[in-house]
Amino acid sequence: MKRLGILLSGRGSNFLAIADAIHAGRLTGAEIAIVISNQADSYGRKRAAALEFPTALIESKGRKRVEHDAEIIACLNEHEVDLVILAGYMRLLSPEFIAAFPNCILNIHPSLLPAFPGLDAQTQAFEYGAKVAGCTVHFVDEQLDHGAIVLQRAIPVLESDDAHSLADRILAEEHIAYPEAIGRVLSGQYALQGRRYVRKSDLAEPSHIPVK
Ligand code: GAR
Repeated sequence: MKRLGILLSGRGSNFLAIADAIHAGRLTGAEIAIVISNQADSYGRKRAAALEFPTALIESKGRKRVEHDAEIIACLNEHEVDLVILAGYMRLLSPEFIAAFPNCILNIHPSLLPAFPGLDAQTQAFEYGAKVAGCTVHFVDEQLDHGAIVLQRAIPVLESDDAHSLADRILAEEHIAYPEAIGRVLSGQYALQGRRYVRKSDLAEPSHIPVK
């Protein structure tokens, strides 16, 4: 059983989608070891506690990033976490955090990266006039919303959309994408080629005769 450490800052709907997927048997071989929030009033942590998952509040306000991250790393290690899941965790990770879990941190972002990194990605896409929007699950590296992409889900931007309806429809895709991406990563059936994530099933032997 692989142990997930969930980091969140707010609402926690992606955490709940992951918990539901495990409960329903759609995401197998995984358990939630700890849910950590950096915000005292995070609804996600309250939901996690109500559902009797182990939770921790490690407040970030007014603290140096490296010190705060060191406390989070210790908590993740204490709970023997294999894979760190950023689920609406609105704080940059220090290089020390990324080095502590090499290629073992995933993030979800509500845009089709590399378009619209950063805050309010759905509003950015809407105001830009994008015709296609969506979400991205990716490995975390030292740059913001940047690491190798595990999967993306795309939806059309409708004439009837506003930024809120678009965000709601992207969120529905996130709830499908994240459990699926976690399952793929936990299966180990992939290779990272530079910043390309390639599924093992797609790493077919070349069927052509190489040209000399
Ligand atoms: C989600 O839309 C997630 O993609 C986004 O925050 C929201 C959290 O919702 N994350 C980012 O923008 C990270 N750059 P949730 O708390 O209901 O899961």
